[in-house]
Amino acid sequence: MSSSGKQVVLSGLRSTGPIHLGNYFGAVKNWVDLQDTYECYYFAADWHALTTDYADTSRVAANTLEAVADWMAAGLDPARSTIFIQSLVPEHAELHLLFSMISPLGWLERVPTYKEQQQNIENRDLSTYGFLGYPVLQTADILVYRADFVPVGEDQASHLELSRELARRFNSYYGAVFPEPKALFTPARKVPGIDGRKMSKSYGNAIYLADTPEEIQRKCKEMFTDPQRLRRSDPGRPEVCNLFSFHQLVSPPEVCERVAADCRAAAIGCVDDKKLIAERISEFLTPMRERREELLRDRATLLDILEDGSRRARQRAGETMDLVRTATHLDYRALVGKARG
Ligand code: TRP
Repeated sequence: MSSSGKQVVLSGLRSTGPIHLGNYFGAVKNWVDLQDTYECYYFAADWHALTTDYADTSRVAANTLEAVADWMAAGLDPARSTIFIQSLVPEHAELHLLFSMISPLGWLERVPTYKEQQQNIENRDLSTYGFLGYPVLQTADILVYRADFVPVGEDQASHLELSRELARRFNSYYGAVFPEPKALFTPARKVPGIDGRKMSKSYGNAIYLADTPEEIQRKCKEMFTDPQRLRRSDPGRPEVCNLFSFHQLVSPPEVCERVAADCRAAAIGCVDDKKLIAERISEFLTPMRERREELLRDRATLLDILEDGSRRARQRAGETMDLVRTATHLDYRALVGKARG
């Protein structure tokens, strides 16, 4: 609970650059929808970006600004949510250190994403202390705001479980400081990439909020459709077609119904439907693209907004750290009986 009487929501994304439709429908859209119901904190996890990009950090800060510009273009509003940068709130690092003391290695090694990612990401050495500790830093991110809810995708379930276990462990050693944060899973909306696999930057199959109508048209031309529909006269199956998945995300219901019926009746061909979906996606993204360009034209103002958000975040994080210092008996003022001030 917060001073506003609302429950606290906290979430972040690794700021590895411009966001794509998968990030939008999988995370950011949900963040936007929560803004009026909760006291919301949303941040760019630039330190988390370093867990994989530590050997070349030259793009991290620029990527962070681009990511945040996308979030705001998508509807995150600094007047209603606290939007900030992880590394501008050093309390995350301080709490991370304390949690590292009580994080059993076995718990960290058993987090499924740890081995999975080590195996999948072959071009860098991920056998580092920081990479093993990724979910401990994530725990500090969440608990430093004493967050009640954490909107994330299902892929983050194991990290959230660890955060809950660490909150319990801390509370059992030092007294009840932290609520156990609950995951608010984003309603599963699978966003396929243009090749039909999950949309992902690393697969090179993504459509970005920053893409121009020309880029969108080119990508849509490459989209996979129903593999059994070989000739224009063959009836199609919208339920297995990628184009249709995109219609369900960006087209109004009447367009979805018409396209599905026309596809089944072979009244519309895949080539025409690709043109149609490119138009729909462009129409959907153009206002966001224009807004992001506007935000990125004036990076000084964008940074002002983020510095202001980070200051507000530090306010609550600082209150938590006072509670933590008291609970862990690291409050020297209390020890020597000196008044605060
Ligand atoms: N691990 C999250 C992801 O990859 C990013 C993240 C870092 C996060 N810290 C967090 C998400 C705290 C929610 C809460 O998407």
